[in-house]
Amino acid sequence: MALSFIETQFPVSKLSKESYKERKSNYSQTLTGLGKWWGRKPLILVRAVILGLLLPATDDPKKDREIFLKILTMDDEGLWQRKAKQIALKDAYGLLSASERKKWFDPDSEETKPKLKKGIQTEEREALQRFVFDRLSYDDKLVYCDRPEQIDGASEQAWEEINAYLSTTATNLPELTQQLGIKQFGHVPRVGDAFCGGGSVPFEAARIGCEAYGSDLNPVATLLTWAALNIVGGGKEVAEQVRQAQEQVYEAVDRQITEWGIEHNEAGWRADAYLYCNETQCPECGWMIPLAPSWVIGEKTRCVAKLKPDSANKRFDILIESDVSASEMTAAQIAGTVKDSKLICPNPHPIDEDGNQPSQETPISLIRGREGLRRWENSDLIPRQNDVLQERLYCIRWVKTYFDAKGKERKERYYCAPDQQDFDREAKVLKLLEERFHDWQEKGYIPSRQIEPGDKTDEPIRTRGWTHWHHLFNPRQLLVLGRFFEEIFSGLDFEIHSVVLNVLGAGRCCDYDARLSRWHSNAANEKSEQVFSNQALNTLLNYGVRTTLSLSSVFSIECSSTDAVNNGRIETFDARKCSTTCDLWVTDPPYADAINYHELTEFFLAWYDKPLQRLFPKWYTDSKRALAITGKDESFRKSMADCYRNLANHMPANGYQVVMFTHQDSGVWADLALILWASGLRVTAAWCIATETSSALKEGNYVQGTVLLVLRKQTSDATAFLDEIYPKVELEVRRQLASMLALEDEEDPNFGDTDYQLAAYAAALRVLTQYQNIEDIDIAYELSKPRKKGSDKSEIEKIIDQAVVIACDYLVPKGFDTFVWKSLTPEERFYLKGLDIESHGEYRTGAYQELARGFGVKDYKPFLESGKANQTRLKTATEFTTKNLGDVGFSASLVRNALFAIRETVRTESTQQGKSWLRAEVRDYWNQRKNAIEILRYLATMGFKMNHWSVDAKAAEILAGALENDSV
Ligand SMILES: C[S@@+](CC[C@H](N)C(=O)[O-])C[C@H]1O[C@@H](n2cnc3c(N)ncnc32)[C@H](O)[C@@H]1O
Repeated sequence: MALSFIETQFPVSKLSKESYKERKSNYSQTLTGLGKWWGRKPLILVRAVILGLLLPATDDPKKDREIFLKILTMDDEGLWQRKAKQIALKDAYGLLSASERKKWFDPDSEETKPKLKKGIQTEEREALQRFVFDRLSYDDKLVYCDRPEQIDGASEQAWEEINAYLSTTATNLPELTQQLGIKQFGHVPRVGDAFCGGGSVPFEAARIGCEAYGSDLNPVATLLTWAALNIVGGGKEVAEQVRQAQEQVYEAVDRQITEWGIEHNEAGWRADAYLYCNETQCPECGWMIPLAPSWVIGEKTRCVAKLKPDSANKRFDILIESDVSASEMTAAQIAGTVKDSKLICPNPHPIDEDGNQPSQETPISLIRGREGLRRWENSDLIPRQNDVLQERLYCIRWVKTYFDAKGKERKERYYCAPDQQDFDREAKVLKLLEERFHDWQEKGYIPSRQIEPGDKTDEPIRTRGWTHWHHLFNPRQLLVLGRFFEEIFSGLDFEIHSVVLNVLGAGRCCDYDARLSRWHSNAANEKSEQVFSNQALNTLLNYGVRTTLSLSSVFSIECSSTDAVNNGRIETFDARKCSTTCDLWVTDPPYADAINYHELTEFFLAWYDKPLQRLFPKWYTDSKRALAITGKDESFRKSMADCYRNLANHMPANGYQVVMFTHQDSGVWADLALILWASGLRVTAAWCIATETSSALKEGNYVQGTVLLVLRKQTSDATAFLDEIYPKVELEVRRQLASMLALEDEEDPNFGDTDYQLAAYAAALRVLTQYQNIEDIDIAYELSKPRKKGSDKSEIEKIIDQAVVIACDYLVPKGFDTFVWKSLTPEERFYLKGLDIESHGEYRTGAYQELARGFGVKDYKPFLESGKANQTRLKTATEFTTKNLGDVGFSASLVRNALFAIRETVRTESTQQGKSWLRAEVRDYWNQRKNAIEILRYLATMGFKMNHWSVDAKAAEILAGALENDSV
């Protein structure tokens, strides 16, 4: 069967950079605005994967790559086409040589403020932009570019070249994918994702012209995916229609809230934030203490809360002051009454009768008591009088709107402590809510579901006593949010797109307006944050409440007015039950995934329950916890194999799957091999896309990334024997790595060390999974076997480890002689390569751990000067002192002896001792001398890269010179 592009190569480095750019663009990402989802895959990655599967590989890999990049507008011309920002004159000037500058710049220009020559025309300016743009690296070019999805596609000329090469007649991406699909499958390609999450795969598949299918166990996921396809991909008309519908709902809610008068004060100012804190009694002094980790309210406005003792009532008044001095800001920070989960009582506790000084600190867990907190009942909306944790409004931010002398509208914001009228309004809010509470619960405007205990859902139950999802919202929040849902319900019979978007808008409001919404005091914010700023349900001792005013931008979801995309089908399904056949399955399963989708989404499902029943009667509305795939153990492996077997059964013989997951260690790879193998699939390629930090990307190494595993149906019935597998794996690993090296671009490297290691895993998997059986390995048994840490490795794991050891031959530090490298032991390689990554600023322990694993080094700790998180580094020559010298292993190795010789050179300030040491200790010194020189020269380069190496590196350089001149 002919190979597809992605089975032979993939531009991993460029795609990593594009993916990173997309991820960093935050809310301008196409689907992010629809609502919270954890870990949406970058759309550019999905686009590249689908095209990589549809594009055939030819015997001209360079040209294949050129065309592939053209289609994605990731070639030079495409990047120029995407350039949306001007390169500043100062930057352009800096990129030119003195003679080049003469062409465009005034000769009297200053470096800091260069001026163009007089009379320079637009065309010449453009030529300057192009000239300097071409000079930039890929990363630097991206700074000035839009994302590929933001432009209209490749240029006319590019399409001519693409069509000539592929024998197609496309003028845009959808036409191309359709024509390629017809060539390969006889119809428009069907792309499916049975773990569709936030909808990246179905959305992008539809957008580039494929037939899309998406399903997920979780209805929040399918709702987001449905909205991605039908609303974001609905075209301009839908965008306008939903915009109007959102406006209508918002205006109706706003009218009602204004009418109730619960967000306005007597002066007509409107509140845009309310701050609440918990309050509890100090067990030592009996005072009621307001709880907050800090009393800073705003760093920009320099606003703080101050606790003023009210001895008569054994409580504190809370004063709010703005524009305070720097020392008052610091004092407010220090005055926090909760630190490290302990109540810090601000009252001095007098010495008791026995002369003991009672503690100022009480652990919050002690305050909650041994029995824990009282469990709230459904109708509890605020704490009861005797509850341990009380709740208190302590600050309101008012917005005063007025017109200045020129008739221009102005806004001023003031933080104030609540007064009696504000407390009256609080009472009114509670009354309004109580009047509606049961009716609204019944109608589904506010949640009525109980919180089921679980890994993530235990926290609100344990730390607050909340038992129902609506307890996560205070009365003000429930009233406003309930009012949104009431309004949305009143229009439920309206057009589905509008209703879905309104539900999602209200869902976003829930995320930004709960008792779990942290108040951000930092200067750029001074607002409350979303509940799901991380992957948990963290309860807070003080929190911010948004008002209808500050929810406005949260509720209205801007849908970019893209052209309408191909429609797709979306369903709620367990992947084991999915019955749709797709040519290409592109999935990102919850693999070794710490995200507890099912529990976290119950927060939203508590609100969406009734609307979903009406909007999508065929979907269920709960999270199906029991069916969610989680964990790493045997039941996880079995469920995954069941899912993938089902998907393999629902693809044609010439179909493909791409499975994405986070890069893991060899144990996980062995599991994966078993899972996919048991599912009737075979691996054909693997690529790693890094989506972490740009600096890490530049170094190219050891970045946790997304692995793409390319798979086909397993059709062979052959059995292999272990003794024939090993040499085959070795051959395949070498073949794979050699082909990657042959394709490598010296100027703009595509592959880093991780890619070579990964390719080795993939090559091993490719050999293993092409057989139906391997000797007497019983896959079903292996899958169901519990894995214990430290237990013997399975045969599969051994084969995979072996593959990685072979790959390590290829992890030669830059500038190090390959021949000498091959003569070194795994420990020596680990140390030298470790220095290479350290010199690139790698201080994460995990990176060294992974490296050690790759080289098969069991105990790498003796090599470390520091093993602290994010401060990990290797010992220098001097830091090894006299340790690890001996007759066997690393202790007797050439690298260790060279390090000791350096140490001696530094210590005695002469090369004599070091040289004598090497002569005496290195076996076969005269034959090893050249290798020793290579090692010393390499160590000498560390001085330029790392300060702590400067002395040792100099010594290494002198010693290398001394060895050069050494003679018998
Ligand atoms: C890593 S996420 C997918 C993210 C998605 N690719 C995106 O770009 O947003 C994994 C998904 O698997 C879903 N899932 C978990 N167990 C499942 C099952 N048994 N059947 C189908 N989907 C399941 C989760 O709900 C979650 O949405």
